[in-house]
Amino acid sequence: MGKTHILASTVAVTLACLSYGTPNMPADKTEPQAGVRAQLVYPGIWRIRLGTPERLTPLGYRSAAVAKDGLANLNAAPAPAVAIDQIRFAKSARGCIVEFPMDKSEKFYGLGLSTNTFELSGRKAWVVPSDHPEETTNESHAPEPFFVSSRGYGVYLDTARYAAVSFGNVAEKEGHRKSVLVDIPGARGVDVYIFSGKSPLESVQRYNLFAGGGVVPPMWGLGIAYRGKGSATADDVLGLAKSFRDDDIPCDIFGIEPGWQTQTYSCSFLWNLGHFPKPSEFIDKMHGMDYRMSFWEHPFTHPTSPIHEALKPYSGSHLVWNGLVPDFATPQARKIFLGQQNESLFSKGVDSLKIDEVDYQPFKPDPWSFPDSSTFPSGLDGEQMHSLFGTLCQQTMLTPYREKNLRTWGLVRNSGALSASLPYTIYSDTYDHRSYIRGLAKTGFGGHLWTPEVRDAKSVDDLIRRVQTVIFSPYAMINCWYMKMPPWLQIDADKSNAGQKMAESEDTTRRVREIFRLRMSLAPYLYSAFNEYRQTGLPVVRALCLDYPGEADLAGVDDQFMFGPSMMVAPMMEGQKKRPVAFPKGDWYDFYTGERVKGGQVVEVAKTLDEMPLYVKAETLLPLAEPVNHIGKETVFKIHVRVYGAHPGDLSLYEDDWETYDYEKGAQTKLTLSWTSSGGASKRSGNYAKHRYEIVGWESK
Ligand code: GAL
Repeated sequence: MGKTHILASTVAVTLACLSYGTPNMPADKTEPQAGVRAQLVYPGIWRIRLGTPERLTPLGYRSAAVAKDGLANLNAAPAPAVAIDQIRFAKSARGCIVEFPMDKSEKFYGLGLSTNTFELSGRKAWVVPSDHPEETTNESHAPEPFFVSSRGYGVYLDTARYAAVSFGNVAEKEGHRKSVLVDIPGARGVDVYIFSGKSPLESVQRYNLFAGGGVVPPMWGLGIAYRGKGSATADDVLGLAKSFRDDDIPCDIFGIEPGWQTQTYSCSFLWNLGHFPKPSEFIDKMHGMDYRMSFWEHPFTHPTSPIHEALKPYSGSHLVWNGLVPDFATPQARKIFLGQQNESLFSKGVDSLKIDEVDYQPFKPDPWSFPDSSTFPSGLDGEQMHSLFGTLCQQTMLTPYREKNLRTWGLVRNSGALSASLPYTIYSDTYDHRSYIRGLAKTGFGGHLWTPEVRDAKSVDDLIRRVQTVIFSPYAMINCWYMKMPPWLQIDADKSNAGQKMAESEDTTRRVREIFRLRMSLAPYLYSAFNEYRQTGLPVVRALCLDYPGEADLAGVDDQFMFGPSMMVAPMMEGQKKRPVAFPKGDWYDFYTGERVKGGQVVEVAKTLDEMPLYVKAETLLPLAEPVNHIGKETVFKIHVRVYGAHPGDLSLYEDDWETYDYEKGAQTKLTLSWTSSGGASKRSGNYAKHRYEIVGWESK
């Protein structure tokens, strides 16, 4: 009875507010701001301050300083292709809007890592974190308020709010002009950054350099990663790890899923000694077999965790799975959390982490994570924290590696704006192969890395096609967290767990091994691409429309992508014997057969299961390493250089210790490969003394 009474009076008060308004609230009408002014903050980057920007934004939590040298080394910046004087801003009690003029034929890309959306003109796209990146709403594992236009400029809105962007699909009563309308509820203003470029790709490069430049992985991160079953014991893992070595299956990273802890969902961060009786000894043994170790966790801290009490004052107002949500925007939460991480993991030599569940489900009936209305000691609210949570977690977990001068190479399920410098690849619990491929094409529109991980499969064909896709990603991962055996021995999860090998296991193992070996032979090439990413902001994996902006037919191609400077990948899906492949202008060479294909056309390409449509751009030097099964401190790659075309450009390979940050201080050598009429030549320049590549041959195609 009493309860009903209280409820009724709450409703009455709320209604009163709505009917009469409150004297201090701004008038609920749109107030346009006159005279938008842009300030050149870095070469090719303009800032426009609109209204009163919020105090807590992604830029305030940036992961790295602006890569000023990289920006200075890019082409001279043209004026931005968007007319700054036509940008409009208005605020109301609801929030603010920013409106950009747009051309009728203009195309837009970006806004993070949704795996369903691609070209955005004509649609409304949300910048919202989610564990469901396959929605048409643009919900994503990486809400990033950055988009790029086909006219060669990029726009970053520095907000952690759930913005929504309508790309030309709303019309005003007066004038009917088409525009890009950005709606930011809750904010009274925003800083907008415009990135100019001679092409859309160049504006993306500026954005990534503004974020600090691209990450350089440890070389071992470019090998194969395998994650064992969640319930596996130390003996299970050691047995499987040994079998990979015995069976000649390349593998560099071994992942341990939830079972290492006494308590998960939420986490205790304490070892389950029943499964892993001697944690240090276990890790040493794995290291002894040349594996790098990656451990699963999420940050939600269970009451049985030793840090629970200390963390309480530095955590959010709401729980997730009965666990505290650490406020990593406070130094205290970082310190307390890292203390436990050090005790359990880092001091034992753990090489990397998989940071799970840091996303959300805002539009679903069961949002499982903390509500948007949560409060945090740093002053962030739940909405802002959701947009920043993945990034803050990555920053926190990176600190100990930076302190030890060791590179790491982790996984995360949510990232955000300005993330190019972070050594974490985004993965998903969703599993649609087609969407996974689109995810790869999309990563080049910003600064994210994505893995189309492989788990079980519907058929051997499905498995092989998926494995072929995943090796053309930054993180080649087989994630068997619910399977006892690797999928090349059994594709069906139930049968895998019942210990039944499939009849085709031997043949499938041979096929998968060959695909893994192809990945290993590409590690030096990929490492070069990442060094380029660091220096120039050029994403390693890119949609074709970025490299070939003038070609109208490529504007919507989201099932092919560039991998590194000169390889084009067109993955096949289960059951496909052939598929149409769009060839950008210029000549292309089939990677397997060397056959030349004229670009500027779509060709129906047939491939057997052991090959995929994989092409090399004409006038390219492609370094291929003799594959090794894992990459160690002493590895020296034997390189065969393939020469495509008569006048290929030079290519640089990078030699350094491949695992510390000393390369940042110049401990690196550039091995430049060139081809002239008299043959191939290589030249070293730089300060790293040890040779890590041996050029053993040149093969003209
Ligand atoms: C999921 C994650 C999977 C696996 C699993 C373990 O959230 O996406 O990759 O780690 O948790 O419980």
